Amino acid sequence: MAEQETPVQDLSKYDARVELERLATQLAKANRAYHTEDAPDISDADYDRLKQRNARIEAAFPDLKRADSPTDQVGAPVAEGFGKVRHEIRMMSLSNAFDDSEIMAFDQSIRRYLGLKDDDPLAYTAEPKIDGLSLALRYEKGALVQAATRGDGVVGENVTANARTIGDIPTRLEDAPEILEVRGEVYMSHADFADLNGRQAAKGAKTFANPRNAAAGSLRQLDAAITRDRPLRFFAYSWGVLSAPLADTQTGAIQRLQDLGFQTNPLTLRCTGPAEMVAHYQMIETMRATLGYDIDGVVYKADDLDYQSRLGFRSTTPRWAIAHKFPAELAWTRLEAIDIQVGRTGALSPVARLTPVTVGGVVVSNATLHNEDYIAGRDASGAPIRDGKDIRVGDWVQVYRAGDVIPKVADVDLGQRRKDATPYPFPTHCPECGSDAIREEGDAVRRCSGGLICPAQAVEKLKHFVSRAAFDIEGLGAKQVEQFYTDGWIAEPADIFTLKDRYGSGVQQLKNREGWGEKSAQNLFDAIDDKRAIPLGRLIFSLGIRHVGEVVANLLARSYGTWGAFVTAIDAAQDRESEHWAGLTGIDGIGTVVATALVSSFAQEAERASIDRLVAHLDVQEAERPQTEGSPVAGKTVVFTGTLDRMTRAEAKARAEALGAKVSGSVSAKTDLLVAGPGSGSKETKARDLGVEIIDEDGWLDLIEGT
Ligand code: IVH
Repeated sequence: MAEQETPVQDLSKYDARVELERLATQLAKANRAYHTEDAPDISDADYDRLKQRNARIEAAFPDLKRADSPTDQVGAPVAEGFGKVRHEIRMMSLSNAFDDSEIMAFDQSIRRYLGLKDDDPLAYTAEPKIDGLSLALRYEKGALVQAATRGDGVVGENVTANARTIGDIPTRLEDAPEILEVRGEVYMSHADFADLNGRQAAKGAKTFANPRNAAAGSLRQLDAAITRDRPLRFFAYSWGVLSAPLADTQTGAIQRLQDLGFQTNPLTLRCTGPAEMVAHYQMIETMRATLGYDIDGVVYKADDLDYQSRLGFRSTTPRWAIAHKFPAELAWTRLEAIDIQVGRTGALSPVARLTPVTVGGVVVSNATLHNEDYIAGRDASGAPIRDGKDIRVGDWVQVYRAGDVIPKVADVDLGQRRKDATPYPFPTHCPECGSDAIREEGDAVRRCSGGLICPAQAVEKLKHFVSRAAFDIEGLGAKQVEQFYTDGWIAEPADIFTLKDRYGSGVQQLKNREGWGEKSAQNLFDAIDDKRAIPLGRLIFSLGIRHVGEVVANLLARSYGTWGAFVTAIDAAQDRESEHWAGLTGIDGIGTVVATALVSSFAQEAERASIDRLVAHLDVQEAERPQTEGSPVAGKTVVFTGTLDRMTRAEAKARAEALGAKVSGSVSAKTDLLVAGPGSGSKETKARDLGVEIIDEDGWLDLIEGT
């Protein structure tokens, strides 16, 4: 992106033609990546820059404007797999402005268009521009009948079943116009995004780059049950087809939508002119970091709906609205050093140490460099990123911050590179313990092979062990654990439970250190004793095995019931041909990635010995067994496949498990029952071949009725 561009006024006609072609190709690719694949390949700021350059060249050479000009395109063609919906009224885009003078010009151009004098009243609404994806909801006689994504603005995807699972979207309206199409934005909050990514990571599933991608990926699931499990939200801000007007003004219409039961943005404000609009923009900008969801600007709309209809549209944007975008949160600074941090699972993570710089109001001195490929300028498949430019210590780099995400190094300016700069040699040994750092095939990350002998891994494991969702020992947090480790008091989790025996009379010794008195030392020993009895799920989670998050740990606990059964099964599952391996990977929610991580960590001698030493001090509680008396499916292995209409997959599974059934993700000789909805494919065939009993959703509900 940083290569030198010829200023538009210096372009020859030939160059301009070539440049327009290049921009059309590049923008079409970016559109596809963003809208169809939910995986943006360039930043929003770069996208806007390309689009602006395209528009400037078109303005200078109007006769070169292409038939497929990016200026006239909104979004990208619909993805395959969903039904198509033709929007009766095209879904528009918004033109962008970046500084206050453009807002004055916007007001002036509207006045000119409408023939208003400078002192005639002309009100606007100002509201946050939500960074999600737009959705059109069609209601007939108050009932939600269709939900469609924007697609290319003309034809979108039919996502009705998915939209019905979103809490903010009413499925019935009282006193609504007979036909009403409500438009707005589907988005995911920061908290829900973090939570979802945590759950995804725990399952060994794909995590999302940002809340917008997570929202798009979640809305466009062919299985609505997956969408139901994703916490999506919706703000209504506009409308399409209407059988009767909602109000006379934008403000009134938004109020009406709110009265009908839609969420509307609380920061929507009626303004009497550009000064108030810009003031509101600045206010929203200061609140941006604390809103809890991503916004990328403020949208202004002429308030009077008569004016809106007189002003009408350009090819893809309304004349009566404009988006005032926030400046991109990026800055350039010097990369002073690259440090390697070693995590709990041994991952070597490169961290950029930067000359401190303000990015979007926050001082940034560290940023992530992801992994060794990222530094070298290629992705996991070896394809170039940043046009193949690598990043070197001493380079002038661009730092980028999106929402609450950790800052990233996005780009490098080769023009500023020192002559003697050399490519960064990614360490092949752990900087903490010197063990080989190995990169396994298919893993983007290089890992320290030192296991517990590596102090960095040991400390991170201990911190994880005492964390809230793990042992959660009062008075023993990350800070204390680190101190005890450094002092040689504890080297592994088991040592926590012998602390009192070793130092106990030794409250004395504890007492002598900073922050500890006799009382707090005694409290600590009591708190540790309190946690000797530990639920199986918590124990499994606390071991800090790669890919084994809380969700997976609880699945394992429920499937195996006791520590003994669990260990025996995992040991036996080392044999991939065994029924134990099949049983492990057959647990719904556990794939081969998780299973492999588990089996190999139990197979590592030192690690296993450390786990055994720990468990010797514990009273591991059996996982809560479901109440199964009188259950027709207790002890049976059930598989759900295809679409379920009357419940989500998650509900069905929870219910079955509560009745003592084991729910598995795949059909095998051990399957007792297959519940098959429409669209069940290979699982049904396999069940038939194996002679497994097959019933449909109604059959299942009949079976468990009355339990
Ligand atoms: S009004 C005819 N209001 O921004 C104009 N759009 O860049 C209809 N967006 O496609 C859009 N927040 O997905 C409007 N408060 C808001 C918005 C908003 C986000 C999105 C919307 C639109 C895109 C245009």
